[in-house]
Amino acid sequence: MTLNNQTQNNTGSSTDASGILVSTTDMKTPYYHQINQEVEVFDQAFQNKLPILIKGPTGTGKSRFVEYMANKEGKRLITVSCHEETSSTDLIGRYIIKGAETVWIDGPLTTAMKNGDILYMDEIAEARPDVIVAIHPLTDHRRELFIDKLGETIKAHKDFMLVASFNPGYQKGFKELKPSTRQRFVALSFDYPSPKIEMEILQNESNVDKDIAKKLVAIGNKIRNLTELGLTETVSTRLLVDAAKLIRSGLPKRLSVHVAVAEPLTDEPQTLQTIKDVCDLMI
Ligand SMILES: Nc1ncnc2c1ncn2[C@@H]1O[C@H](COP(=O)(O)OP(=O)(O)O)[C@@H](O)[C@H]1O
Ligand SMILES: [Mg+2]
Repeated sequence: MTLNNQTQNNTGSSTDASGILVSTTDMKTPYYHQINQEVEVFDQAFQNKLPILIKGPTGTGKSRFVEYMANKEGKRLITVSCHEETSSTDLIGRYIIKGAETVWIDGPLTTAMKNGDILYMDEIAEARPDVIVAIHPLTDHRRELFIDKLGETIKAHKDFMLVASFNPGYQKGFKELKPSTRQRFVALSFDYPSPKIEMEILQNESNVDKDIAKKLVAIGNKIRNLTELGLTETVSTRLLVDAAKLIRSGLPKRLSVHVAVAEPLTDEPQTLQTIKDVCDLMI
Protein backbone atom coordinates (compact mmCIF):
# COMPACT_ATOMS: atom_id res chain seq x y z
CA MET A 1 0.00 0.00 0.00
CA THR A 2 1.68 3.16 -1.14
CA LEU A 3 0.64 6.70 -1.67
CA ASN A 4 2.95 7.04 -4.61
CA ASN A 5 2.01 5.52 -7.87
CA GLN A 6 -1.54 6.78 -7.86
CA THR A 7 -3.77 7.52 -10.76
CA GLN A 8 -4.93 11.11 -10.72
CA ASN A 9 -8.36 12.12 -11.85
CA ASN A 10 -9.73 15.54 -12.57
CA THR A 11 -11.30 16.09 -9.16
CA GLY A 12 -7.91 16.24 -7.48
CA SER A 13 -8.45 12.85 -5.84
CA SER A 14 -6.66 9.63 -6.51
CA THR A 15 -6.92 6.08 -5.33
CA ASP A 16 -4.08 3.66 -4.72
CA ALA A 17 -4.25 -0.05 -5.48
CA SER A 18 -5.77 -0.80 -2.07
CA GLY A 19 -8.58 1.71 -2.37
CA ILE A 20 -7.05 4.38 -0.14
CA LEU A 21 -8.34 7.69 -1.40
CA VAL A 22 -5.97 10.61 -1.34
CA SER A 23 -7.32 14.05 -2.10
CA THR A 24 -5.07 16.98 -2.63
CA THR A 25 -5.66 20.58 -1.65
CA ASP A 26 -5.16 22.04 -5.11
CA MET A 27 -8.78 21.20 -5.89
CA LYS A 28 -11.27 24.04 -5.57
CA THR A 29 -13.04 24.40 -2.24
CA PRO A 30 -16.01 22.05 -2.16
CA TYR A 31 -19.40 23.52 -1.35
CA TYR A 32 -20.36 22.94 2.25
CA HIS A 33 -23.26 24.46 4.16
CA GLN A 34 -22.51 24.75 7.85
CA ILE A 35 -25.26 23.34 10.07
CA ASN A 36 -24.26 23.99 13.66
CA GLN A 37 -20.91 25.71 14.34
CA GLU A 38 -18.99 22.62 13.25
CA VAL A 39 -16.56 24.77 11.24
CA GLU A 40 -15.47 26.62 14.40
CA VAL A 41 -15.23 23.38 16.35
CA PHE A 42 -12.98 21.85 13.69
CA ASP A 43 -10.84 25.01 13.49
CA GLN A 44 -10.24 25.02 17.23
CA ALA A 45 -9.65 21.26 17.39
CA PHE A 46 -7.09 21.66 14.59
CA GLN A 47 -5.32 24.48 16.48
CA ASN A 48 -5.28 22.39 19.64
CA LYS A 49 -4.28 19.12 17.96
CA LEU A 50 -7.36 17.30 19.18
CA PRO A 51 -8.73 14.40 17.14
CA ILE A 52 -12.35 14.64 15.97
CA LEU A 53 -15.03 11.97 15.77
CA ILE A 54 -18.00 12.73 13.50
CA LYS A 55 -21.08 10.73 14.35
CA GLY A 56 -24.17 10.47 12.19
CA PRO A 57 -26.16 8.57 9.59
CA THR A 58 -25.08 8.00 5.99
CA GLY A 59 -25.39 10.91 3.59
CA THR A 60 -25.48 13.74 6.11
CA GLY A 61 -22.39 15.54 4.82
CA LYS A 62 -19.67 14.06 7.04
CA SER A 63 -17.21 13.39 4.23
CA ARG A 64 -18.05 16.65 2.48
CA PHE A 65 -17.39 18.55 5.70
CA VAL A 66 -13.97 16.96 6.16
CA GLU A 67 -13.03 17.73 2.53
CA TYR A 68 -14.16 21.30 3.03
CA MET A 69 -12.20 21.71 6.27
CA ALA A 70 -9.01 20.15 4.88
CA ASN A 71 -9.25 22.62 2.05
CA LYS A 72 -9.90 25.50 4.41
CA GLU A 73 -6.91 24.60 6.60
CA GLY A 74 -4.79 24.20 3.46
CA LYS A 75 -3.97 20.60 4.31
CA ARG A 76 -3.78 17.47 2.26
CA LEU A 77 -6.54 15.00 3.10
CA ILE A 78 -5.96 11.27 3.13
CA THR A 79 -9.15 9.24 3.39
CA VAL A 80 -9.21 5.61 4.46
CA SER A 81 -12.57 3.88 4.01
CA CYS A 82 -12.50 1.33 6.80
CA HIS A 83 -14.07 -2.10 6.37
CA GLU A 84 -13.93 -5.46 8.16
CA GLU A 85 -10.55 -6.32 6.65
CA THR A 86 -8.84 -3.00 7.43
CA SER A 87 -5.87 -3.84 9.65
CA SER A 88 -3.18 -1.84 11.39
CA THR A 89 -0.71 -3.04 8.75
CA ASP A 90 -2.86 -1.37 6.07
CA LEU A 91 -2.58 1.88 7.98
CA ILE A 92 0.98 1.76 9.26
CA GLY A 93 2.84 0.13 6.40
CA ARG A 94 4.50 -3.07 5.29
CA TYR A 95 7.56 -4.62 3.72
CA ILE A 96 7.21 -5.49 0.09
CA ILE A 97 9.54 -7.48 -2.14
CA LYS A 98 11.01 -5.41 -4.94
CA GLY A 99 13.33 -7.42 -7.17
CA ALA A 100 15.93 -8.91 -4.85
CA GLU A 101 15.23 -6.42 -2.07
CA THR A 102 12.70 -6.01 0.67
CA VAL A 103 11.58 -2.42 1.01
CA TRP A 104 9.44 -0.74 3.62
CA ILE A 105 6.42 1.19 2.38
CA ASP A 106 4.69 3.66 4.71
CA GLY A 107 0.92 3.23 5.01
CA PRO A 108 -1.46 6.20 4.93
CA LEU A 109 -1.31 6.79 8.69
CA THR A 110 2.50 6.90 8.78
CA THR A 111 2.56 9.13 5.70
CA ALA A 112 0.03 11.54 7.17
CA MET A 113 1.90 11.67 10.50
CA LYS A 114 5.20 12.46 8.79
CA ASN A 115 3.79 15.07 6.38
CA GLY A 116 1.32 16.74 8.69
CA ASP A 117 -1.72 15.73 6.63
CA ILE A 118 -5.29 15.24 7.82
CA LEU A 119 -6.13 11.55 8.00
CA TYR A 120 -9.83 10.76 7.72
CA MET A 121 -10.81 7.28 8.83
CA ASP A 122 -14.29 6.84 7.41
CA GLU A 123 -16.48 4.31 9.32
CA ILE A 124 -13.81 3.64 11.92
CA ALA A 125 -15.96 1.15 13.87
CA GLU A 126 -15.84 -1.21 10.88
CA ALA A 127 -12.06 -1.65 11.11
CA ARG A 128 -10.39 -4.55 12.90
CA PRO A 129 -9.70 -4.07 16.64
CA ASP A 130 -5.91 -3.81 16.09
CA VAL A 131 -6.53 -0.57 14.17
CA ILE A 132 -8.14 0.98 17.23
CA VAL A 133 -5.25 -0.21 19.42
CA ALA A 134 -2.74 1.29 16.98
CA ILE A 135 -4.32 4.74 17.00
CA HIS A 136 -4.65 5.08 20.80
CA PRO A 137 -1.16 6.56 21.43
CA LEU A 138 -1.84 9.00 18.63
CA THR A 139 -4.93 10.41 20.19
CA ASP A 140 -3.39 11.62 23.46
CA HIS A 141 -0.55 14.00 24.32
CA ARG A 142 2.03 11.50 23.06
CA ARG A 143 0.99 11.86 19.42
CA GLU A 144 3.32 9.05 18.52
CA LEU A 145 3.22 5.72 16.78
CA PHE A 146 5.31 2.65 17.49
CA ILE A 147 6.08 0.73 14.32
CA ASP A 148 6.99 -2.70 15.63
CA LYS A 149 8.21 -4.04 12.28
CA LEU A 150 10.80 -1.25 12.21
CA GLY A 151 11.37 -1.12 15.97
CA GLU A 152 10.84 2.62 15.65
CA THR A 153 8.64 5.24 17.29
CA ILE A 154 7.62 8.18 15.15
CA LYS A 155 6.27 11.50 16.41
CA ALA A 156 3.45 13.22 14.59
CA HIS A 157 4.20 16.37 12.57
CA LYS A 158 2.70 19.40 14.34
CA ASP A 159 -0.10 19.72 11.76
CA PHE A 160 -1.10 16.06 11.71
CA MET A 161 -4.75 15.59 12.58
CA LEU A 162 -6.88 12.50 12.93
CA VAL A 163 -10.56 12.64 11.99
CA ALA A 164 -12.85 9.63 12.16
CA SER A 165 -16.47 9.03 11.27
CA PHE A 166 -18.85 6.60 12.82
CA ASN A 167 -22.46 5.72 12.12
CA PRO A 168 -24.09 4.88 15.45
CA GLY A 169 -27.49 4.14 13.94
CA TYR A 170 -27.08 0.79 12.25
CA GLN A 171 -29.75 -1.58 13.44
CA LYS A 172 -28.23 -4.58 11.70
CA GLY A 173 -24.56 -5.48 11.97
CA PHE A 174 -24.40 -2.98 14.75
CA LYS A 175 -20.88 -2.03 15.67
CA GLU A 176 -20.07 0.04 18.69
CA LEU A 177 -17.02 2.06 19.60
CA LYS A 178 -15.71 1.39 23.09
CA PRO A 179 -15.97 4.29 25.60
CA SER A 180 -12.17 4.14 26.01
CA THR A 181 -11.86 4.94 22.30
CA ARG A 182 -14.68 7.45 22.05
CA GLN A 183 -13.34 9.48 24.93
CA ARG A 184 -10.15 10.19 23.02
CA PHE A 185 -12.00 12.36 20.50
CA VAL A 186 -13.83 15.65 20.41
CA ALA A 187 -17.16 14.54 18.94
CA LEU A 188 -19.65 16.17 16.59
CA SER A 189 -23.13 14.86 15.80
CA PHE A 190 -24.39 15.17 12.24
CA ASP A 191 -28.03 14.76 11.30
CA TYR A 192 -30.45 15.68 8.50
CA PRO A 193 -30.53 19.47 8.11
CA SER A 194 -33.57 21.69 8.60
CA PRO A 195 -35.84 21.95 5.51
CA LYS A 196 -34.58 25.44 4.70
CA ILE A 197 -30.92 24.40 4.70
CA GLU A 198 -31.62 21.11 2.94
CA MET A 199 -33.39 23.03 0.15
CA GLU A 200 -30.34 25.27 -0.23
CA ILE A 201 -28.07 22.25 -0.41
CA LEU A 202 -30.25 20.63 -3.09
CA GLN A 203 -30.33 23.79 -5.17
CA ASN A 204 -26.59 24.31 -4.85
CA GLU A 205 -25.71 20.74 -5.66
CA SER A 206 -28.06 20.26 -8.61
CA ASN A 207 -29.30 23.66 -9.80
CA VAL A 208 -32.82 22.34 -9.56
CA ASP A 209 -35.77 24.80 -9.27
CA LYS A 210 -36.76 26.00 -5.83
CA ASP A 211 -40.18 24.40 -6.21
CA ILE A 212 -38.73 20.95 -6.96
CA ALA A 213 -36.20 21.30 -4.13
CA LYS A 214 -39.04 22.11 -1.76
CA LYS A 215 -41.03 19.05 -2.85
CA LEU A 216 -38.03 16.74 -2.55
CA VAL A 217 -37.26 18.00 0.94
CA ALA A 218 -40.91 17.48 1.91
CA ILE A 219 -40.72 13.89 0.61
CA GLY A 220 -37.55 13.33 2.61
CA ASN A 221 -39.13 14.59 5.80
CA LYS A 222 -42.32 12.64 5.25
CA ILE A 223 -40.44 9.34 4.84
CA ARG A 224 -38.13 10.13 7.78
CA ASN A 225 -41.19 10.45 9.96
CA LEU A 226 -42.69 7.14 8.82
CA THR A 227 -40.85 5.16 11.49
CA GLU A 228 -43.37 2.31 11.10
CA LEU A 229 -41.66 1.43 7.80
CA GLY A 230 -38.80 0.01 9.89
CA LEU A 231 -36.09 1.17 7.49
CA THR A 232 -32.50 0.44 8.55
CA GLU A 233 -31.51 3.87 7.30
CA THR A 234 -33.89 6.52 6.05
CA VAL A 235 -33.75 9.18 3.31
CA SER A 236 -30.46 11.04 3.41
CA THR A 237 -29.62 14.41 1.91
CA ARG A 238 -27.45 12.47 -0.55
CA LEU A 239 -30.50 10.61 -1.94
CA LEU A 240 -32.43 13.84 -2.33
CA VAL A 241 -29.48 15.44 -4.12
CA ASP A 242 -29.33 12.45 -6.48
CA ALA A 243 -33.06 12.76 -7.26
CA ALA A 244 -32.64 16.51 -7.84
CA LYS A 245 -29.76 15.88 -10.27
CA LEU A 246 -31.81 13.36 -12.27
CA ILE A 247 -34.77 15.73 -12.48
CA ARG A 248 -32.48 18.60 -13.45
CA SER A 249 -31.07 16.57 -16.31
CA GLY A 250 -34.53 15.78 -17.67
CA LEU A 251 -35.64 12.44 -16.21
CA PRO A 252 -39.37 12.46 -15.29
CA LYS A 253 -39.88 13.60 -11.68
CA ARG A 254 -41.63 10.52 -10.32
CA LEU A 255 -39.20 8.12 -11.99
CA SER A 256 -36.30 10.14 -10.60
CA VAL A 257 -37.64 9.88 -7.08
CA HIS A 258 -38.40 6.18 -7.44
CA VAL A 259 -34.90 5.28 -8.55
CA ALA A 260 -32.93 7.76 -6.43
CA VAL A 261 -34.94 7.71 -3.21
CA ALA A 262 -37.35 4.74 -2.95
CA GLU A 263 -35.33 1.89 -4.49
CA PRO A 264 -32.10 2.48 -2.54
CA LEU A 265 -34.00 2.40 0.76
CA THR A 266 -35.51 -1.08 0.73
CA ASP A 267 -35.95 -4.35 -1.17
CA GLU A 268 -39.10 -5.32 0.68
CA PRO A 269 -41.89 -5.10 -1.96
CA GLN A 270 -44.66 -3.75 0.25
CA THR A 271 -42.50 -1.13 1.95
CA LEU A 272 -41.12 -0.10 -1.43
CA GLN A 273 -44.63 0.34 -2.82
CA THR A 274 -45.65 2.43 0.20
CA ILE A 275 -42.65 4.72 -0.28
CA LYS A 276 -43.33 5.09 -4.00
CA ASP A 277 -46.98 5.91 -3.30
CA VAL A 278 -45.95 8.59 -0.80
CA CYS A 279 -43.54 10.05 -3.37
CA ASP A 280 -46.13 10.05 -6.16
CA LEU A 281 -48.57 11.96 -4.00
CA MET A 282 -45.99 14.62 -3.24
CA ILE A 283 -44.36 15.33 -6.59
N1 LIG B 1 -24.02 20.37 4.83
C1 LIG B 1 -23.87 20.02 3.55
N2 LIG B 1 -23.35 20.89 2.65
C2 LIG B 1 -23.23 20.54 1.35
N3 LIG B 1 -23.61 19.35 0.83
C3 LIG B 1 -24.15 18.45 1.67
C4 LIG B 1 -24.29 18.72 3.06
N4 LIG B 1 -24.87 17.64 3.64
C5 LIG B 1 -25.06 16.74 2.67
N5 LIG B 1 -24.62 17.21 1.47
C6 LIG B 1 -24.79 16.52 0.19
O1 LIG B 1 -24.97 15.15 0.48
C7 LIG B 1 -24.01 14.35 -0.19
C8 LIG B 1 -23.55 13.24 0.73
O2 LIG B 1 -22.73 13.76 1.73
P1 LIG B 1 -21.48 12.96 2.31
O3 LIG B 1 -20.55 13.96 2.87
O4 LIG B 1 -20.94 12.01 1.31
O5 LIG B 1 -22.22 12.14 3.47
P2 LIG B 1 -21.63 11.13 4.56
O6 LIG B 1 -20.14 11.17 4.49
O7 LIG B 1 -22.20 11.65 5.85
O8 LIG B 1 -22.20 9.78 4.20
C9 LIG B 1 -22.89 15.29 -0.58
O9 LIG B 1 -22.29 14.84 -1.76
C10 LIG B 1 -23.64 16.60 -0.79
O10 LIG B 1 -24.22 16.61 -2.07
MG1 LIG C 1 -18.86 9.52 3.97
